[in-house]
Amino acid sequence: MRIIIAKDYDELSKKTANLLASQITLKPNSVLGLATGSTPVGAYNDLVRIYKEGDINFTEVVTFNLDEYYGLDKENPQSYYYFMMENLFKHVNINKHNIHIPNGRAKDIELECIEYENKIKQAGGIDLQLLGIGRNGHIGFNEPDVKFLDEDTIEANSRFFTALDEVPRKAISMGIKTIMHSRKIILLASGEEKAETINSMINGKITPELPASVLQLHPDVVVLLDEKAACKL
Ligand code: PGA
Repeated sequence: MRIIIAKDYDELSKKTANLLASQITLKPNSVLGLATGSTPVGAYNDLVRIYKEGDINFTEVVTFNLDEYYGLDKENPQSYYYFMMENLFKHVNINKHNIHIPNGRAKDIELECIEYENKIKQAGGIDLQLLGIGRNGHIGFNEPDVKFLDEDTIEANSRFFTALDEVPRKAISMGIKTIMHSRKIILLASGEEKAETINSMINGKITPELPASVLQLHPDVVVLLDEKAACKL
């Protein structure tokens, strides 16, 4: 794992956007794996700025998002579809047929997952996967040892909802194996509340209790932290 420590969240966001922009410049038809959550918002803003300055072009870029809440419509402002539209896609010239986000309203979840995996394979696999990390070490919605969303995740994500019981208890997520098949991975973490988890992910044992620890086995991972998230290293 290569660890890059940025001074603060703004610097972390700029560095991430620059890495994404370089990927698109080097390979205009890149397949990007994208993440939601608070952490990548700044990077998406900076990526939009780089696009508006005329330095990158999204026409051939293909994207696959990590996850989606189960049971939410695309139009729901809490859906990750809505998040991606608002924070990135509606501001750049991406072809909407190249955008893939799991369908949270799929009737047959198993089929939805199989088809999603197949589409990733047909696209040639993910060139660059962006990841956030949960306080409990989840990546995507791959929770420690459980199939439903972890209580800590529900509590953390409730800040975007008006009440705790509005947070969906289920989600569709790219699995660990698919994430591990990405050619490159950039994991972002900001703030002291992630510091302990980041230290265990990098220096602890590889365990399903901390799903992100499996990244120790990936040959090309960049961990981009701000100083607060790096303070326990
Ligand atoms: P956050 O979420 O960026 O909102 O902290 C990260 C995650 O849960 O993967």
